[in-house]
Amino acid sequence: MRWTRRHVLDTDDWSTEEIQAVLDTTGAMVEVLSRPVRRAPPLRGRTVVLFFAESSTRTRVSFELAARTLSADVVNISASGSSVEKGESLYDTVRTLQALGGDVVVMRHGSSGAPYFVSERTDAAVINAGDGWHAHPTQGLLDAYTLRAALGDLAKKRIVIVGDIVHSRVARSDINALVPLGATITLSGPPTLMPSAWRCGQTPAGTTYEPDLDRALDGADGVIALRLQKERQEGGLLPSLREYTRVWGLTEARVSLMRPGAPVMHPGPMNEGVEIDADVAHGARSLVERQVTNGVAVRMALLYLLVGTPTLEAS
Ligand code: CP
Repeated sequence: MRWTRRHVLDTDDWSTEEIQAVLDTTGAMVEVLSRPVRRAPPLRGRTVVLFFAESSTRTRVSFELAARTLSADVVNISASGSSVEKGESLYDTVRTLQALGGDVVVMRHGSSGAPYFVSERTDAAVINAGDGWHAHPTQGLLDAYTLRAALGDLAKKRIVIVGDIVHSRVARSDINALVPLGATITLSGPPTLMPSAWRCGQTPAGTTYEPDLDRALDGADGVIALRLQKERQEGGLLPSLREYTRVWGLTEARVSLMRPGAPVMHPGPMNEGVEIDADVAHGARSLVERQVTNGVAVRMALLYLLVGTPTLEAS
């Protein structure tokens, strides 16, 4: 297929072909990353600006590695230490980044919709690296790639997403990436941490809600545990952390309810001992580190599709 998108803001309106194009291109990037010299030229002369107004380890570092591997120049800006701290508006920050020659702006922001605002006010390609509770499209795509690599064709595979769904941009983007590939999703977690329409049965297409985690995991093909977002909790959503862990924490006993070898994933950072036991997080089924590794290749694929020239041959 011919790639036509200028930005990666959300995957909620992407076709199955577009998602597959990213996953297939990711496969080519995995080959680049396996070379003795990990370098290819398609972004030579391009500048990628990493504008992170919220903290990040995996996403920021993997975008930086992805851009450098494809020979781009990289500029890092965070809210702390930049003129955002002096009160500069998002609009002025974006115009400044464009004046400095950014071809791609990768941005993380606490406000849902901020990447849309930016994309309408810059000539650069904008990639959403996580906005508020709204979307984290590159995480959804890397989770889909990781699950497809582990399970093969995802058609008719049933994946459980458990935890703090209401605050989770990852849950939304996982659904948007996995359902078009044919997977079905069982959402699980406390009713107070589910969007109200979803807990009343009006879940997105391809998903269902099962509050009992043991029932949700029974016979599942894989599970994605979400971080309990303590920083986004309002008072009264949970009786206590201990109660949350007792009812919705991923333990060895619980993951053994899934199909033999069914993988365990988590976008990170993990609250070990809260939503996932350390034994599970680092156990034989865990793909947590594979997710991080695949994140570089997926982000290379997106940069390449948005602004790359069509050669992966080393020069
Ligand atoms: N999964 C994820 O977005 O991790 P970071 O916050 O470390 O980027």
